[in-house]
Amino acid sequence: MNKYLSCLRLNFVLLTKLLTCRFLNNKDYAQDYNKIASEYDKNWLYYIQKHTEKFLQKLPPTNSSLPILDLGCGTGFSTGYLSQHYNGNQIIGIDISSEMLKKAKEKFPQIQFVCDDMLNYLKKQPNNSAALICSSWAIGYSNPQKIAIEAHRVLEKGGIFAFIVNTLDTLPKIFDAFRKTMYNHPGHIKKLLWPRFPKDFSFIKEKHFEQLYCEKNNINIPIKDKNITDWVFKTGIMAGFEQVTDMTLFCQELQHCSAPLVHRHIIGIYRKK
Ligand SMILES: C[S@@+](CC[C@H](N)C(=O)[O-])C[C@H]1O[C@@H](n2cnc3c(N)ncnc32)[C@H](O)[C@@H]1O
Repeated sequence: MNKYLSCLRLNFVLLTKLLTCRFLNNKDYAQDYNKIASEYDKNWLYYIQKHTEKFLQKLPPTNSSLPILDLGCGTGFSTGYLSQHYNGNQIIGIDISSEMLKKAKEKFPQIQFVCDDMLNYLKKQPNNSAALICSSWAIGYSNPQKIAIEAHRVLEKGGIFAFIVNTLDTLPKIFDAFRKTMYNHPGHIKKLLWPRFPKDFSFIKEKHFEQLYCEKNNINIPIKDKNITDWVFKTGIMAGFEQVTDMTLFCQELQHCSAPLVHRHIIGIYRKK
């Protein structure tokens, strides 16, 4: 009976938020990434850098002199790599967090960085105007399907669309704890979060792109349970969550959650048909 009531209460709260359009938005994500920008490289890149690098090393060369875009470039790890390896092209990094971009500009003053929503930015670009569109760990914050459609329009024929992105089943430890917090404390829900991570490669349309490379993989994060809350708040993986529910309650649930801390993700490299 208690379970039934909790479920009813949760659904009532979710419906209220839905009807009043209380959704997590770009401003919320930008605000949270602004907060962690100064420590992002130390906490996130430390574990992920080598995996991002392995993805970037798979990108094919280009004969085109058109620009290369890095969507959700953050502090510029991929953008820096692209500028080193594609020195005949203009490289442009796009991100919604001004503080992440500030860090990127400090590291790579020669690169152009633009503060904008990635989908919005793509929509403003002319047809066939880019050689390569790349994104590391970021299209899941936008709408991957819409990003793929716009990328297809903006890329020249033969241009490359490439991404590494978390899948919908990523970080089960974090998302299980998050779901339990919502379920056990529906009164604390402030906004709705609509998960955008792709479940697989099906958001890419075969009529638009030829697949050059694809990989589904897991990265185990070797963080000890006692250090986990500190780590999750400093990496950006909790970006936006604070606007959704109470973080003290979330941390309590996290301590009891036995699911693994594993980044489930996909890598895709496609050529525009
Ligand atoms: C996990 S970080 C990845 C940063 C960088 N690509 C890297 O690999 O280190 C995600 C980045 O996406 C940015 N972001 C989130 N939503 C975005 C949006 N709608 N448009 C542009 N950038 C966005 C965040 O500000 C953050 O810098």
